Amino acid sequence: MAVGEKVYWDNRMAFVLAAIGSAIGLGNIWRFPYMCYKYGGGSFLVAYLVALLVAGLPLLILEFSLGQKIGGSAPASLGKVSKNFAWVGWMAIIVGFFITTYYSVIMSWAANYFVHSFTLAWGNDPKTFFYTNVLGLSDGILKIGSPRLPLLIGLAIVWLWIVLSIWKGARTVSKVVYVTVTLPWLILIVLVIGGLTLPGAFDGIKYYLTPDWKALLNAELWQAAFTQIFFSLSVGFGVMIAYASFLKPNSDIVNNAFIVGLSNCATAFVGGFAVFSAIGYYAQLQGVSVADVMNSGPELAFVTYPAIINHLPFAPLMGILFFVMLLTLAIDSAFSLVEAVVAGIMDTFGIGRTKTNIFVAVLAFAIGVIYTTTAGLYWLDLVDHYMTFFGLFAVAFLEAVAVGWFFDTEKLRKKINSTSQMHIGKWWVISVKFIVPLSALILLIITVIGRINASYGGYPRVSELFGGWIPILIAVLGGIVLGKFTIKMIRKDNVIVDTQDAPPSI
Ligand code: PFF
Repeated sequence: MAVGEKVYWDNRMAFVLAAIGSAIGLGNIWRFPYMCYKYGGGSFLVAYLVALLVAGLPLLILEFSLGQKIGGSAPASLGKVSKNFAWVGWMAIIVGFFITTYYSVIMSWAANYFVHSFTLAWGNDPKTFFYTNVLGLSDGILKIGSPRLPLLIGLAIVWLWIVLSIWKGARTVSKVVYVTVTLPWLILIVLVIGGLTLPGAFDGIKYYLTPDWKALLNAELWQAAFTQIFFSLSVGFGVMIAYASFLKPNSDIVNNAFIVGLSNCATAFVGGFAVFSAIGYYAQLQGVSVADVMNSGPELAFVTYPAIINHLPFAPLMGILFFVMLLTLAIDSAFSLVEAVVAGIMDTFGIGRTKTNIFVAVLAFAIGVIYTTTAGLYWLDLVDHYMTFFGLFAVAFLEAVAVGWFFDTEKLRKKINSTSQMHIGKWWVISVKFIVPLSALILLIITVIGRINASYGGYPRVSELFGGWIPILIAVLGGIVLGKFTIKMIRKDNVIVDTQDAPPSI
């Protein structure tokens, strides 16, 4: 394949599966049930649904149209909207890149647990096994220690897997996603059916679905719901823009966005049944209430679930299935993030795919080493907080402002409708102009105030500097510098759409 040769998806199905694969990941089976658990089950579901409708789907439609109708990776398409926003595309990509550096480490944990499943190596004390045997967790974020070899080996394997999955871009991904999307779904169905037949399952489900209406007055719940929707739909990282740019001209936008958005949320919802029925069973076994089973996010997959697996029939097989499901769910999310970076670099610098793939993988692996050390869990937690709260909200805000206020959204809406089976009304324009930017801005301000008042998770301020502010600064400054190259490239190709072509509708 020649450098610069445009590669498209094999067909519409391949695109839809790839986008679904990116959206459905650890966020659905791990982060989502934990958020539900923490914020009172049904009430979180309500906020989650509202966030999907008012911000998630409009942003997904926006990103699909940026990639396909305006054209190119995140920096290229945003640069064509207005040259002042090319840097935002790079910022999205850099934020996504930092996420990949630790997302791949969680996959390495899962790969290790896949191996441990054969012998149920966690024994009767999965908690000690996770924190001591697997992570070797030190007693503070600044006590970094050396990398854990099994985690490092797992990380290397994961990166090899990622690179091979995107070797020829959309062409390879088109094939890989048939397996990585359908296999976890099949396993999930087995786990849901198995879970629902366990004694005590009903208590878990009741906890999952019973809303605590008062909780809806809690601002933190709304913040959690919006973050979860953005993270889960993979919007705000340049991924969906890059994926949509490999669509053939005149492809459907709206219907595809609804299919991707709704199947993502349906998976999270169905997955909740597997998780909560197992938790209900475990609570009954331990003679405790459902609310007392779980302590923290990572524990759900690596402590609570292994403890439950011990008591299931065919325990090793259940363990293997569970961790294969996690790995196959995660892989297509991980490589979609890498693909966004690769597309950005190739678009802007015209470097070949093979070189770019290897460069990105090696760099991400090298940064990932920090999370395999004995303080890795703390750093992962810290970087995750900063990237998903600051990075994500900032990008969502700027992206919506760019298109909403510096581009003719009405014209874009008509263009989208002209090739879509389902049509969007003026509500989309209102959402892009007002609802998305306002909600993202409010969430950003709440987060900034929170961080000024106290460091996240009580970590020392100095670690916050290295794990939080410096990566954010890299994303912003890196975005600005790289954005200049993108503008140059757009000018050279003489394809600038800019505001003269599309006068702002304000
Ligand atoms: N959506 C993925 C999940 O829910 O696990 C995570 C993710 C993938 C986030 C790709 C961002 C992204 F660009």
